Amino acid sequence: MTESAPKAKYRSDYQTSSHTITDVNLTFDLHETQTKVTAVSQVKQLGDESTLVLDGENVELINMSVNEEAWSDFTITETGIEISNLPQEFELVVENYISPSTNTALEGLYISDGSYCTQCEAEGFRRITYFLDRPDVLAKYTTKVIADKTAFPYLLSNGNKIEQGELEGGKHFVTWEDPHPKPSYLFALVAGDFDVLRDVFKTRSGRDVALEIFVDKGNLDRANHAMVSLINSMKWDEQRFGLEYDLDIYMIVAVDFFNMGAMENKGLNVFNSKFVLANDQTATDTDYLGIEAVIGHEYFHNWTGNRVTCRDWFQLSLKEGLTVFRDQEFSSDLGSRSVNRINNVRIIRGPQFAEDASPMSHPIRPDKVIEMNNFYTLTVYEKGSEVIRMMHTLLGEDKFQAGMRLYFERHDGTAATCEDFVCAMEDTSGIDLKQFRLWYSQSGTPTLTVTDSYDESAKTYTLKVSQHTQSTQDQADKQALHIPFDVELYDEHGNCFELRCNGSELNNVLNVTQNEQEFVFENIASKPVPSMLREFSAPVRLDFDYSDEQLAFLMINAKNDFAKWDAGQMLLAKYIKSNVSSVQSGGSVELPSLVVDAFRGVLLNKDLDEAFIAEALSLPSFNEVAGWYNTVDVDAVCDVLKGIKSLLADALQDELSALYQTLTQSDYSIEHDAIGKRSLRNLCLQYLVNVEDYQHLAEQQYRNANNMTDTIAAMSAANSASLSCRQSLMDDYSEKWSHDGLVMDKWFALQGSNPASNALDNVKHCMSHKAFSLSNPNRTRSLIGSFLNMNPRRFHDISGEGYQFAGEILMQLNESNPQVASRLIDPLLKLKKYDEKRQELIKLELNKLRSLDNLAKDLFEKVTKALES
Ligand code: TRP
Ligand code: ZN
Repeated sequence: MTESAPKAKYRSDYQTSSHTITDVNLTFDLHETQTKVTAVSQVKQLGDESTLVLDGENVELINMSVNEEAWSDFTITETGIEISNLPQEFELVVENYISPSTNTALEGLYISDGSYCTQCEAEGFRRITYFLDRPDVLAKYTTKVIADKTAFPYLLSNGNKIEQGELEGGKHFVTWEDPHPKPSYLFALVAGDFDVLRDVFKTRSGRDVALEIFVDKGNLDRANHAMVSLINSMKWDEQRFGLEYDLDIYMIVAVDFFNMGAMENKGLNVFNSKFVLANDQTATDTDYLGIEAVIGHEYFHNWTGNRVTCRDWFQLSLKEGLTVFRDQEFSSDLGSRSVNRINNVRIIRGPQFAEDASPMSHPIRPDKVIEMNNFYTLTVYEKGSEVIRMMHTLLGEDKFQAGMRLYFERHDGTAATCEDFVCAMEDTSGIDLKQFRLWYSQSGTPTLTVTDSYDESAKTYTLKVSQHTQSTQDQADKQALHIPFDVELYDEHGNCFELRCNGSELNNVLNVTQNEQEFVFENIASKPVPSMLREFSAPVRLDFDYSDEQLAFLMINAKNDFAKWDAGQMLLAKYIKSNVSSVQSGGSVELPSLVVDAFRGVLLNKDLDEAFIAEALSLPSFNEVAGWYNTVDVDAVCDVLKGIKSLLADALQDELSALYQTLTQSDYSIEHDAIGKRSLRNLCLQYLVNVEDYQHLAEQQYRNANNMTDTIAAMSAANSASLSCRQSLMDDYSEKWSHDGLVMDKWFALQGSNPASNALDNVKHCMSHKAFSLSNPNRTRSLIGSFLNMNPRRFHDISGEGYQFAGEILMQLNESNPQVASRLIDPLLKLKKYDEKRQELIKLELNKLRSLDNLAKDLFEKVTKALES
C-alpha cells in the first residue's frame, strides 16, 4: 500500500454529530458521466463545534453556498469536506457532479442495464453528494429527478409523488416527498423504462396502499409471485406484530446489477432481480421461497430498520437480526415451520459457525470495523436472529410482543441501539437479561458438553451441563453465557416425563448460566432418553455421547419434527466422523444396518411431511462437516460423504424408486404440499443416480420436466454423479437460456460445483460464455462463488491452481467491485483449516493481494486478518 493503511473505527468511540440536517432538497439532472446533483440542506449546529465535516467520495464539487452566499471557507479532504466559520443555523447548497456510468462498484448512483439506480447502505450516499452520511442524522427528503422523457419514462424516489412536468429538450421531471425523516442510507432514486405490475393493499385501518413492482420490459409474467409475497407480508405484519404500512405507495424495482439481495429504501425497495422474477419455467421452488423471504424481509424493515433505525453501524444487528427473525417467522407461519427451522439451523451450524471460527470472527455487535460492508455477515444477520429468538424463547410470544410495542413507543422516529432493544424486552417482561447481553459482545461458538446419570433408587435423573467458548482471533477471554437449553425426557414408550425439580414443576427451557451446572430431575421412573437443545434453542454446539439406539429412538419418538431431524443428523455425524478416520487409515466407508434402517423408517413413515423427509435424508454439507475439525482432510471428507450417499442409495433403492414413481405430479403448483412432494422426489433422484440401474432417470426427468425445479434437479443429479448424459443436458440448457443471465446462473453454479477433475478448466472456459460477465455480481457469485465454496475437491486441489485462479479473479474485482471481491474471498480466509502445504499456497495468494498498491479497504481488512491468523 502506497497510501496510509486504512483506519479502523471503534464502537466505543461513538460521538453524537456536531450538526444535524433537518431537511434536504435534492435535484438530480441525470447524465451518464456528469449527473448534476444539487443538495439544499437545512443545517443546525448541535454542540460547540462550528466546523461542519461532511462525508464525500468520488464527488466533484461545482459550487457551494451558505445562506445564499457563495462560500469558499472549506477544505476538501480524502474522506470529504470541512466547512468552517459557519453560523449556528443555515441553509447549505452543494452542487456537484457524479459519474454513474463508470461506477462499477454499484454503490451510490450507478447504471444497471440502462436504468439509473442507487444503493446507499451502508455508506453510499457520500458518493452522491457531500453529506452527514451517518444513520443518526434523520432528515426529511424532497427529491426532484430530471431526465430524458423517452429513455426514462419512470423517475422514482422515496415517499409520495408531489409534482411532475415537461421540460425543454425532451426532458421531464418528477418530484417526490418523503414525509418520514430518515437517514441517508435509506435514500433511493431509480430512472428507467419498465413494465409495471400494480395492485392495491387495504390496510387494517382501511387505507389503500398502491403497490407497484417495476421489472425490465418483457418480464411482467415473472412478477406475480413477488406481488403475492408483498401482500402476504403486509397482512402478516398486521396480524402477528400489529404493524401497519405508513405511506400511500410501496414500490419495488428489480435490477440485474446488485451487490446484495435487496434494499429496504423507504417506500422504494431496490431488489436484485433474483429475488423478484419467477415463473414455473425460470425459477425453482427454492427461488420462490427465497423471493417470499426477501420480499418479507425488506417489507418488515419498514418498522424494524426504517421507523426505528440504527444509531451507528455497530448496531446493525438491531435492524438485521430482528428483521431476519421476523422474516423467518413469516416464512414459518406461511409454510412449514420445521423445514424452515432446519434450513436456518443448517446456515448457523455450517457457514456461521465457520465464520465464528475464522479470522473474521466478531460479535453480533462488532467492536471494530475498517469497512462496514464487511460486516453484513452471517453473524450479524443469522446469529443476530438467533439472539432475538432466544429472547423470544425466554419471554414467550406475548411478552415478546409487549416488548416490541414498548420498543416502538420509546424509539419510533429515532436511531436506537441494541441496548435499547434489550431494555424494552427487559422492562416489559421483568426478566433479567443482564447476563444475556453478553451475546451482543462476545464472539465465537459455545460448546455445551452434557453428561447424564440416573439414580435408580432415588428416581432422579441428572444432566450435568458445562459450557465453554474457545478464544477467537478477535477476543481471547470468554465468559459464561445465559443459554436457554430446551430439554425433554422420554420414557421407553416415547412419552415425556414431567420435569420436576425441588418438588416443583419445571419449564422445558433450562437456564444454563454457569460454566458448570447440574439439573436434577425428580420422579423419573426409569432411565430416560434426553432430547436436548430442542428447536436449536441456542446457537451452540451440543456434545453428548448418544448411543446409536438412543438416536434411532428419537428419530421415531421425538414429539417434534426438528428433534427427529436433529437426531438423524447426530447419527449421521457419528458415522461421518468414524468413517473419515477409517478412510484416513485406508479403510472403506461402512454403515451399520441400524443406521440404514433408521433412515428407511423415516422414508417410509406416512405420518411425516414429504418436505420434512427430504430434509431428514439430506446429509450435512462438506462445509458443515469441515467445521467439526481443526484441520480438515478434504479428500477424506468428500470420499465419506459420497460413500455414505452411495451406501444409502444402494440399500434403499427399492424404497427410493417406489417413492420416486408415486410422487410424480402432472401439474406444477407452488402449494407447500406440492413443493414438499417435489423436494422428496428430487431427493430420491439424487440418491438413485448413484445406482447404475437408475441413472437413466436423470435424463428422462430432464426431458419430461414441465418446470424449472425438476429440470435443475435432473441436471444437478447428473452433475454431482458425473453421469454420461451431463454434457448433453448442460448443452441443451445453455442453448435454450443463454439470452437470460438470471436463468443461466443455475447453469453457471453447476459448472462451478462440477466434481469432475477438469472442473477448473471448464470454469475458466465458462467465463467467455456470452451470458457471463465479471461485472455482474450474480454471474460472478454463481460461477466463481460456487467453485470456491461448493467444490471442495477441485478448489482445494493440491496443485494450488484453484487458489491461484481465485487470486487472479480477486485482483480484477478489487478494482471493479471491492464489495463482491470481499465476499468472494471468504473461503481463502480459512487457510488454517487446511494442511501446511495448502496453507502456504493460500498465503501466497493473500500476500500477492496484500502487496497491491490499490488494495481496497474491504479486502485489506480481511487479508490482513487472515495473514495474522
Ligand atoms: N439492508 C439490506 C438488507 O438486509 C442489505 C443490503 C442491501 C446491503 N444492499 C447492500 C448492505 C449493500 C450493504 C451494502 O436487506
Ligand atoms: Zn435486512
